[in-house]
Amino acid sequence: MAHPARFRVVACGRRWGKTELGKVALLDAARRGGLGWWIAPTYGLADAVWRSLRAALEGVWVEKNEQMRLVILPGGGAIQVRSGHEPDALRGAGLDLAVLDEAAFMPEEVWTGAIRPALSDRRGRALFLSTPNGLNWFYRLYLLGLDPLQPDWASFHHPTRDNPLIAPEEIDAARLELPDRWFRQEYEAEFVEDAGQVFRNIDAVCTGQPGEPEPGGRYVCGIDWGRVDDYTAFAVFDVAARRLVALERFRQISWAQQRDRLRTLCDRWQPGAIWAEANSIGSVNIEALQAHGLPVRPFQTTAQSKGPLIEALALAMERGEITLLDDPVLRGELNAYALERLPSGLYRYGAPPGMHDDTVIAVALGWMGVRHAGGPLSFA
Ligand SMILES: Nc1ncnc2c1ncn2[C@@H]1O[C@H](COP(=O)(O)OP(=O)(O)OP(=O)(O)O)[C@@H](O)[C@H]1O
Ligand SMILES: [Mg+2]
Repeated sequence: MAHPARFRVVACGRRWGKTELGKVALLDAARRGGLGWWIAPTYGLADAVWRSLRAALEGVWVEKNEQMRLVILPGGGAIQVRSGHEPDALRGAGLDLAVLDEAAFMPEEVWTGAIRPALSDRRGRALFLSTPNGLNWFYRLYLLGLDPLQPDWASFHHPTRDNPLIAPEEIDAARLELPDRWFRQEYEAEFVEDAGQVFRNIDAVCTGQPGEPEPGGRYVCGIDWGRVDDYTAFAVFDVAARRLVALERFRQISWAQQRDRLRTLCDRWQPGAIWAEANSIGSVNIEALQAHGLPVRPFQTTAQSKGPLIEALALAMERGEITLLDDPVLRGELNAYALERLPSGLYRYGAPPGMHDDTVIAVALGWMGVRHAGGPLSFA
């Protein structure tokens, strides 16, 4: 906080104390009569900070505007809390300090188009606080701060464990729960390329060709049921060979037609179990399939169950324990599948906007079937 550089870039792990630091810096600037802006990536985060700053200034302000999230202090200093998801709405002028919290989760235009020009008239300062988010613009600013030829810029880097208020056990638990690259980004505050990419080793694993049922072979199937505008995908695994032997994909056919196709598939492969996502298909349909003699096992997808389902497949691929088909759609979906960190701090697995993950889910469910067929279900 005391560093004299005009632009300070602070790359720190989750829960390190970034927001706390920013609030103190902003209050300090306003107390000296400066005009300071807080920029948060979403309305929700802006609101939380506004409530906390307002509480800190209770009884001190001479004027307060809830709508504008603005307080004015006796010495003429002022604080305003804004949200950065619409850079165009952020134009203003005459700032002494801008605090950009979770800067790596805002569009670069917030800085280049809105905030940087607003600092010009009063030679205002900026404080960028964030956990890294891949090698995006926040990373480029961070590099500026490391460059001795850029005296206006200074960068700082601290892992979560530096916060004495966070229990080390919490951090150890996160290390076990999160994929390694993700942990390094979120808790070590490392700048990691493609941290969100979930599946690695795709070329080495997607080498198989579709197979034929073999006498005595044991097969399991995973299904992702399509909804209105995505696909239904069936994935059949050879249990002993840990190999994907068939992958079918289709869309926009009636429920009865889908059921018929599943029956044809079952006649052919005689799977011992069919793991189906229960949320999209519904328990009524699962019962209908079971009544037709299909060994359907429901899988409830929740925030808790999806992580282990996906991570088990990712781990098997990383270790080369599984063979998948050399299929362009499957390769594409595996490649694009991502773990995303929302500005709120929650994590979400899924396909990027506009892309599908039907084959990924069917394969992940099929792989779970393989693991389950070998004994009790466990996610190592
Ligand atoms: N200097 C400090 N003094 C006392 N408590 C602190 C300090 N810095 C951080 N904390 C506490 O540590 C916790 C994390 O702080 P804060 O929310 O500022 O971290 P953050 O890095 O912004 O976290 P997130 O990644 O979730 O946004 C909070 O409980 C906060 O009150
Ligand atoms: Mg924060």
